[in-house]
Amino acid sequence: MTQHLTHIPPELASLADYEQFAEQFIDPAAWAYIQGGSGDERALQNNCNAFAKYQCLPSLLRPCGEGTTEVRLIDTVLRHPIVLAPVAYQKLVHDLAEIETARAADATDSLMVSSTLASVPMEEVITHNKGTNWFQLYFQPDRDITQDLVARAEASGFSALMVTLDAPVQTFSRRLMRKGCGLPADITAANLINYAQPEPVEIGRYESRVFQGVMRKAPTFADLEWLINYSKLPVIVKGVLNPNDAERLLGCGVSGIVVSNHGGRAFAAAPAAIDCLAAVRERVGDACVLVDSGVRSGYDVFKALALGADAVMIGRPQVHALAIAGALGVAHMLQLLRDELEVAMAMAGCATIDEIKRVPVWKGDDYV
Ligand code: FNR
Repeated sequence: MTQHLTHIPPELASLADYEQFAEQFIDPAAWAYIQGGSGDERALQNNCNAFAKYQCLPSLLRPCGEGTTEVRLIDTVLRHPIVLAPVAYQKLVHDLAEIETARAADATDSLMVSSTLASVPMEEVITHNKGTNWFQLYFQPDRDITQDLVARAEASGFSALMVTLDAPVQTFSRRLMRKGCGLPADITAANLINYAQPEPVEIGRYESRVFQGVMRKAPTFADLEWLINYSKLPVIVKGVLNPNDAERLLGCGVSGIVVSNHGGRAFAAAPAAIDCLAAVRERVGDACVLVDSGVRSGYDVFKALALGADAVMIGRPQVHALAIAGALGVAHMLQLLRDELEVAMAMAGCATIDEIKRVPVWKGDDYV
């Protein structure tokens, strides 16, 4: 693995700089896995293009001397609304992997969401971030394993579960398929290694790998209701784009929603998540709503909050920063975002996150 930097060079002044600089630190197959989107990558492209369509109207001479980025998510007050999204297999880019990311969360007072597919066990990751930690759950084909993951997350101190529902079928991106698929043998999902592998599903000659294979074990609303009853922790659902889903999920008792298209890695025909946010917010009243997929600057964070999010999550940029300079890189990347958000707030005349929510937003020539 390429040597990581122990300082931040001046060239790294934005998340786009991080992305460009990171490629030389990452093995080409891992780069394909990280950067890729599903299918024809239109959902990924939608995310990249979407934020530029929005503009926010500033107000002059507003008192911001006591400004703050503090925000309440469920029962926790966070110093700022920039969250580290769950990202699998961070050992692909750094030997200390999620441990370094957790250290960066700790240094910057950021909420970190640890993936089911992390390359370091959750019990260890959490010891490196004294702040707020949530656990991202993928339902396992075997309910006992899901139950055990939840019990471990509760026992080790995670304060919420974020269950990801938008990827019932795992797809490798075409970029990764061209590199021969698969992850290196030494990169494993450390949270899952002690469980027996599920029996492979027998598929008849004329049966479908998708319907009779994976989807027979895919989660349903009944599984989600079971989880909400079983878990002592609040459950937040990740991967919502449709306001009807958002309404039904809240009716089931979820504590929050992440508007996301999984960074363009799930349904390839999906719209950009940011384009779905306002409609979801309108439908769910004051429920907790996060958004991710394509957030690349503090101005994007500002736009997301103005469109109704309580907080945003950052995916790929944390991997870029981790590859370049470990915890130092991730902390610097988060600080860049936070500084830009504060500048945006001062320029727009917003002293609080709540005030951002009242800022008029245009898309094209019309108000959102
Ligand atoms: C992800 N994402 C993800 N989501 C999740 O719920 N569980 C996971 O294990 C992973 N793993 C993962 C790996 C990699 C390499 C990437 C890039 C993404 C999706 C992630 O949480 C988030 O939704 C997107 O990354 C957000 O989009 P951006 O910020 O990457 O554009």
